[in-house]
This record gives sequence, structure tokens and C-alpha cells, in this order.
Amino acid sequence: MSRLFSPIKVGRYTLSHRVVLAPMTRLRTIQPGDIPSPMMATFYGQRASEGGLEIIEGTSVSISARSYLGAASFYHDGQIEGWKAVADAVHAKGGRAFMQLIHGGRQSHVEMTGGVDPVAPSVVPFEGVALTKDGFVPASPHRALGIEEIPGIIEEFRVAAQRALDAGFDGVELHGANGYLVDQFIQDGTNRRTDAYGGPIENRARFLKEAVEALISVWGADRVGVRISPSGQWGGISDSDPEATFSYVARLLDGYKIAYLHVVEPRIKGDDTLHEGQEPVAAHYLRPHFTGPIIAAGGFDKAGAEAIVASGDADLVAFGRHFSSNPDLPHRLQHDIPLTPYVRAAFWGGTEKDYTDFPRTELVEPA
Ligand SMILES: Cc1cc2nc3c(=O)[nH]c(=O)nc-3n(C[C@H](O)[C@H](O)[C@H](O)COP(=O)(O)O)c2cc1C
Repeated sequence: MSRLFSPIKVGRYTLSHRVVLAPMTRLRTIQPGDIPSPMMATFYGQRASEGGLEIIEGTSVSISARSYLGAASFYHDGQIEGWKAVADAVHAKGGRAFMQLIHGGRQSHVEMTGGVDPVAPSVVPFEGVALTKDGFVPASPHRALGIEEIPGIIEEFRVAAQRALDAGFDGVELHGANGYLVDQFIQDGTNRRTDAYGGPIENRARFLKEAVEALISVWGADRVGVRISPSGQWGGISDSDPEATFSYVARLLDGYKIAYLHVVEPRIKGDDTLHEGQEPVAAHYLRPHFTGPIIAAGGFDKAGAEAIVASGDADLVAFGRHFSSNPDLPHRLQHDIPLTPYVRAAFWGGTEKDYTDFPRTELVEPA
């Protein structure tokens, strides 16, 4: 029997299979106000399955945490109804939904932050982008956070987590990956601080630790996950020793007995192709340091997913792009039904076209 399609306990929940929807920012909120649109509820409802887990796209915890116009956020009451509709749509199909909470840090622009300079652990030259009404633009110059400002940002995470609870989600995932604020603190290429939040990894992980504790204070550890991307390069991020850094992070998180650790394998090129011959490595070296479920993500197909789950390096596999164009992806993978190709042009913004109009296959009983 395929391990990928066997049940697993993730925190408080028992899932019936291990094919997870990876968080994907699709820039389809309604402006002004970043209101989750009805088509977002349709999208997540379509991808829900009985006992399956979905991770809802990166959701900014405040106005100044935003990076991309149209991206998800949860910072005012006018958004609750839209988010409730998303959670309800997933639950109607028997699925579970964790909301990914994000602060963009230096990956932003004054037009997105409400006019204030983007913040980061330290000022380090950065050539990244943000998305404003003028399209993708160079990120604005950022400034280093004062140590006295940090509790306020942690509090934004706590309040957003509470909103996610009030809207009926099943848990939250801290976005500690892909070069956004939490990651900027963890990795030494972007963290040059000399105070309690910089220097040795014990200090660089302090922001992560405080953010995780804030989420746990709302949800309990068994409904909190964390996403990391050791060796990912998005957002101009780098670390002098990723294996040591993220092994420490995995041990730290293991101590909290969080619901899962979500590991992005850095093997996708910008043009969507896999790096030649590159195997998933991070889950392998993190495995000894984290005793709970590990979700692996990044460039998986069915064979790769089966292999990593069979090896024990990961317990679940998150799919992004294939899930975007195959609402019934778990079913298709299980029954070897060909996949509909994804449409990159519709990834970041647009209408229902190439978003909620992908076909499902008829249910086929296993042979
Ligand atoms: C359109 C798009 C949006 C994404 N948005 C997010 C996001 O909000 N948060 C995140 O952690 N990763 C995000 N990712 C990365 C995916 O979660 C995933 O790690 C990546 O697509 C690799 O998995 P795949 O090969 O199965 O697509 C995004 C990827 C795509 C293609």
C-alpha cells in the first residue's frame, strides 16, 4: 500500500492522506481593503478533500507587513467574512486549512507598507521586488528594526493568529521561508545585528521563537506549523552554514512539539524546471533533529513524493504548481491520472480563468 495515501496524525488532526496543498500567493483579493474574494473560497473549496490538508497562501499580518498588491492579508474586521467563506468551503469537503502568516520585511515597497519604510533585521543591499499598482517594482530601501519595535511585530502575528482562529481555520503556519522577515532574522546574510537578535544562531532564532510562541499562545502547539527554506535564494537570502543554522531551528521547534515542520527544497529554477539531478536534501539532514511530521515541498511529482515518504525523510509532501491546475490532485496522483499542465501566466493575479476553471476527473474506484 502507498504510504502517500495512508493516514497520518498531524498535531491535533488525523489526515487521511499526505498530499498537501502548498501555500500559493495568487493575488486575488478585492481592492481596496484586501478583501478575500469569493473566487478564493471557490479555489480552496475545489482543492479540499476528505481528510486532506491545505495551507492557505501567505497572509500578511498587518498593512506594513504587505509585499504584493492583491495578496492575502488579515488585519481588519472587514476581511473576516471573506476568510470565513474560505474556511467553510474547505470544511464542507471534509478538509483542513492552516493559514500561512507572513511579514514581508525588506521585500516590500512604501506603497504597500502604508508609506513607511520596509523593515528588516539589518540594512543589507537588496535588489528584490515588490508588487504595486505599477506592477513589479524594485523594493524600497529598508531600515533596521529598533529592538524596542520587535514586540509590536510579534504582537501583530498574535493578533492575526487570533483572527484566523475567529474565522474558523484549523491552524496557522508561520512563514519562516523564502527570504521574508522571519527568514531575514534567521540567516546570517541578512542579519548583521549585534544585539540579542543577531550574531549566534541562538540569537538569530529569537524572532522566530517569539513569533512561534505568540502563535502557540492562541492555538496551542498542536495547531501551529512552521515553514523554512534552508538554502533557498528567493529574496536575496543566504547563510554561511545552512545545515547548522536550520538543524538548530529544527531542534528548537521540536522542543515546542509543533504540529509540523514544512521544508522547502531549493531545487526549482525560475523557469519552473528542476535543477539537474538535484535530490531533496534539507529534509534528510533535518530529519534527525525534528521528531514530529515533516512536510517536504519543491519540485515533487508522484514518484518523488512516494520516494521521500517511503525513505522517512518526510511524512507528507506539499504540491504547489500541479495543485494549481489539478483541483483533484490527490485523487489523480493516487490513480495515475494524467495531470493538467499549470498556467504560469495566471499565477499572480487575474480572474477565475485558469484559476477556478480547471477540470476534475470523475471519481474512479481503485482497482
Ligand atoms: C504562484 C506561486 C505562489 C507562491 N506563494 C507562496 C506563498 O505565499 N508562501 C510560500 O511559502 N510559498 C509560496 N510559493 C512556493 C510554493 O509553496 C512551493 O514551495 C513551490 O511552488 C514549489 O513547489 P512545487 O514545485 O510543487 O510548485 C508560491 C509558489 C507559486 C508558484
